[in-house]
Amino acid sequence: MAQQKILLGVTGGIAAYKTPELVRRLRDRGAAVQVVMTRSAARFVTETVLQAVSGHPVRTNLWDEQAEAAMGHIELARWADHVLIAPATAEFMARLAAGSAPDLLTTLCLATRAPLSIAPAMNHVMWDHAAVQANRECLQSRGVRILGPAEGDQACGETGLGRMVEPDAIAAALLADATLAGATVGSQPLQGRTVMVTAGPTREAIDPVRFVSNRSSGKMGYALAQAAAEAGARVVLVSGPVQRPVPQGLERIMIESAEELFAATHAHIDDVDIFIAAAAVSDYRPRRVESQKIKKTRAEMTLDFVKSPDILASVAKLASGPFTVGFAAETHKVREHALTKLAAKQLDMIIANEVGAGIGFEQDENAAHVYWRDGDQAFPLAHKSTLARALIELIAQRYNVGFGEDTAVELTALASRD
Ligand SMILES: Cc1cc2nc3c(=O)[nH]c(=O)nc-3n(C[C@H](O)[C@H](O)[C@H](O)COP(=O)(O)O)c2cc1C
Repeated sequence: MAQQKILLGVTGGIAAYKTPELVRRLRDRGAAVQVVMTRSAARFVTETVLQAVSGHPVRTNLWDEQAEAAMGHIELARWADHVLIAPATAEFMARLAAGSAPDLLTTLCLATRAPLSIAPAMNHVMWDHAAVQANRECLQSRGVRILGPAEGDQACGETGLGRMVEPDAIAAALLADATLAGATVGSQPLQGRTVMVTAGPTREAIDPVRFVSNRSSGKMGYALAQAAAEAGARVVLVSGPVQRPVPQGLERIMIESAEELFAATHAHIDDVDIFIAAAAVSDYRPRRVESQKIKKTRAEMTLDFVKSPDILASVAKLASGPFTVGFAAETHKVREHALTKLAAKQLDMIIANEVGAGIGFEQDENAAHVYWRDGDQAFPLAHKSTLARALIELIAQRYNVGFGEDTAVELTALASRD
């Protein structure tokens, strides 16, 4: 495996004193490390120490005339296979979320194509602040990987969620994770595959101003699409109406109704290897869509509904169709409904989760239980982006055991014919 080049950004949190140890742990795992510090970070740890442990000069200043004569910041941005910011202060997260670039480190973060991970560290009240959480969510939706923070004693004497994850755990997360974009090509389990993910709710029109819909926020589907892209896949995201940015590097097709979702799915399904149906599709739609707004003239009104097309079943039925993964979002008897759906629709896999007041839809965290024909696996409550990475890893494994093996045999046959 080629040596991983990690650009470590150190910002001005008390946990910066742990970064010499972090550099050592990254280098122990075979990585090359170059360090960039903010001005505040230099108050907590010295350049001299970080230079000694990394074996490279440490950069602190965007206006370094010697380095910038050769556009040093762009060179560094290109050099990195991965950018890691540890510790990441609340202030740094705000600058990154705003796309502001007043210093070397933020400029580098905008100028690099390398995947970005941050290990936030701050007082637990700061971490809980709505502004910090909004920035975390914004960064996460753009594909920034958030490592921690961890719970425990803090430098301020209090206890809570805000400690930087320990250096060894950061190094392990970064360098043992085969799904990281930027890892060697062979270690990306969905390299060369096309994955289609449907996400979000559908809207079924009643009249020009009203519709029937559901509480899906699209968070889980978008996180799965992002994780599939990180695992090396080309991703087509077919999305219902949600206010979410397009994750970097993905093709997104926006739809409104179940019928539009059906059409968009089948228009692009031919090239798809893995189909993940995370959209919350309305099972029924009004039989008739009024052409004018319905007036408030009657004391009661009744709407007549007809069944919407079953997109998941229609894809699973395709001759030589993709590996098909469904979702079962249920309020009760989750396992029973999931297994019935797996068999009835002849899916390759089903991801079951409980939804209801305060669980599943609209939440940042989720738990799931995955079933396939001869196995199952439980996934405990985790942030949806963490859960999505774990689910994609399992999907890739199952796909490679079944479908992937066939493809490998076909490819070998073709190669031997040559
Ligand atoms: C003693 C001390 C400890 C600090 N620790 C933290 C910390 O752990 N996390 C944090 O977000 N900010 C912390 N701050 C505040 C940051 O240093 C401050 O917001 C600074 O502007 C961050 O700049 P930077 O993000 O460019 O490094 C601390 C400040 C002081 C004086």
